[in-house]
Amino acid sequence: MTDSIRVVQYGLGPIGCGTARLIAERAGLDLVGGIDINPAKVGQDLGDLIGLPGALGIPVDAKLVDCLQRTAADVVVHTTSSSFKRVWDQLVGIVQAGIHVVSTTEELAYPWWSAPELSRQLDRIAKDNGVSVLATGVNPGFTMDTWPLAMTAVCQEVRRVKVIRIQDASSRRLPFQKKIGAGRTLTEFQELVAAGTLRHVGLTESIAMIAAGLGWKLDDIRDDIEPIIAEERISSPYLTVEPGQAAGVKQIGRGLAKSEELISMDFQAYIGSPETYDAVYIMGTPNMEVVIKGGAHGDIATKSIAVNAIRRVVEAPPGLKTMLDLPIVTCC
Ligand SMILES: NC(=O)c1ccc[n+]([C@@H]2O[C@H](COP(=O)([O-])OP(=O)(O)OC[C@H]3O[C@@H](n4cnc5c(N)ncnc54)[C@H](OP(=O)(O)O)[C@@H]3O)[C@@H](O)[C@H]2O)c1
Repeated sequence: MTDSIRVVQYGLGPIGCGTARLIAERAGLDLVGGIDINPAKVGQDLGDLIGLPGALGIPVDAKLVDCLQRTAADVVVHTTSSSFKRVWDQLVGIVQAGIHVVSTTEELAYPWWSAPELSRQLDRIAKDNGVSVLATGVNPGFTMDTWPLAMTAVCQEVRRVKVIRIQDASSRRLPFQKKIGAGRTLTEFQELVAAGTLRHVGLTESIAMIAAGLGWKLDDIRDDIEPIIAEERISSPYLTVEPGQAAGVKQIGRGLAKSEELISMDFQAYIGSPETYDAVYIMGTPNMEVVIKGGAHGDIATKSIAVNAIRRVVEAPPGLKTMLDLPIVTCC
């Protein structure tokens, strides 16, 4: 490995372009490639596409194999999809090329509860190839799991954990606003929920990670979703929500052991929320309540934690990792 860590950005949507910009600007990291399946992006100069002041002289590739014909790489920052199953082939391709992965795939943040067999397989393939794989982000990855777990370090005992994340989604990127159903009729909202394409992905993973971190054995994890309905016309920079349409989601997550709720999550993201904050409540000795006024901005936080985690992932022993396995990730 050279002194600088050579990084390829895989997926050039709003988050991927943002992580690529951070990588390009960060001392010690070297942005050496960019990959996206969108034909409109393939062949463009990477620097131009991600909004750097000048071209990088690196064309965007459609596939990892094309990219690796031009350059070697140490790490791929992977930002293509929320679904572990959907990104499986992408991850295996990266890992089998002997390259570490930092992904923002929500279902990969703690996949051991929902997909234990796939997790074991990926862990094995990563170990066989001597690389590590981590998924992180704001949530899952920090505000509803890593941060509450870190707070419990100063507790003698913990009986329950509750996390609330309320966001005005107006300042979030368009894919996020779409994912929470903003601007949908209630019928469309319910249809998309039933199809599994409308929801914030990650409460189950955060709950499972907290339970694992505290050594709790859960019997069940629930994740219930309902629309937050606009009472008046509201607009974001990207879309307008009419009265009676969905402005976003309210999702309640519960981690249960013997029918007792040990972990609860209240996630609300909608256009026009009058307040934005993150709050963690630890019921134990001592009781604790910590609020981040204004909340962690989801897009800034996700880009930052993904890039800040690169060095930790390179230094980690091989295998499938979660934020529980790594030393604390800092801005570095
Ligand atoms: N953990 C967290 O807290 C957190 C926070 C924010 C975002 N995320 C996740 O991070 C991901 C990126 O977010 P985003 O808003 O940038 O999403 P996005 O707008 O969907 O961008 C994904 C990009 O990847 C491309 N892509 C899809 N499949 C690909 C493939 N097989 N090979 C190469 N490129 C591919 C897409 O191309 P097309 O445009 O052609 O589809 C698109 O350009 C999303 O899955 C999002 O849910 C996680």
